[in-house]
Amino acid sequence: MPDLPPAPVLDAGGGVVLRPVRADDPAELAAVVEQHRDPQVQRFTWIPETYELVNAEAFLANAERGWREGDLATLVVDVDGAYRGTVDLRPEDGAWAELGFGLHPAARGRGVATRAVTALLAWGFDALGLAGVTWRADVENTASLRVAQRCGFTVEGRVRGLLLHRGERVDGVIATLLASDLRGPVDHAG
Ligand SMILES: CC(C)(COP(=O)(O)OP(=O)(O)OC[C@H]1O[C@@H](n2cnc3c(N)ncnc32)[C@H](O)[C@@H]1OP(=O)(O)O)[C@@H](O)C(=O)NCCC(=O)NCCS
Repeated sequence: MPDLPPAPVLDAGGGVVLRPVRADDPAELAAVVEQHRDPQVQRFTWIPETYELVNAEAFLANAERGWREGDLATLVVDVDGAYRGTVDLRPEDGAWAELGFGLHPAARGRGVATRAVTALLAWGFDALGLAGVTWRADVENTASLRVAQRCGFTVEGRVRGLLLHRGERVDGVIATLLASDLRGPVDHAG
């Protein structure tokens, strides 16, 4: 697993800033609890059905661990100074990573996820030297799919039983984004 650089602060525009988690901040912990109790998050992500403060503490502690151990790069989506969700890249061997994201309900429906993911991807391709990123989601998660498409991902297809959700396999969609999709092919001839 490659080392990760220190967690950056990234300006995503429109008042959206990506920054490291504040694992000891009571307001941040309370917002994490609210986010994960939301029905959309419960429906489309694999998290405890009864989400308490202890789960939020573990979530933010794991984000800090991921930077230290190099297997998970999580940044907070901060809007006008408040916690409004997270975006993450999970590095894999061969200079690829898997993308994840989720927002507090108060921040949805106005392009915040698209801004945040775009900024994280730019950092991932630059700072981590990624060659490609994968995204996967439940086939019914239209909002997540739209974010991926707006950020330039190409849908590769629908895969039966792709995801495990609360003990059951559900159909999913996989999409990919290559560094060359954003920057054009690298000319190796010269
Ligand atoms: C997925 C999620 C991050 C989207 O965040 P968002 O900030 O509302 O997304 P944006 O405002 O950038 O919207 C992007 C597109 O999705 C569409 N969209 C947003 N919410 C939608 C919804 N509930 N249903 C259908 N489309 C939706 C927007 O209209 C927009 O489409 P457009 O490009 O055609 O205009 C947010 O809904 C969320 O946190 N969901 C729960 C967690 C989750 O599913 N995470 C992803 C797991 S793979």
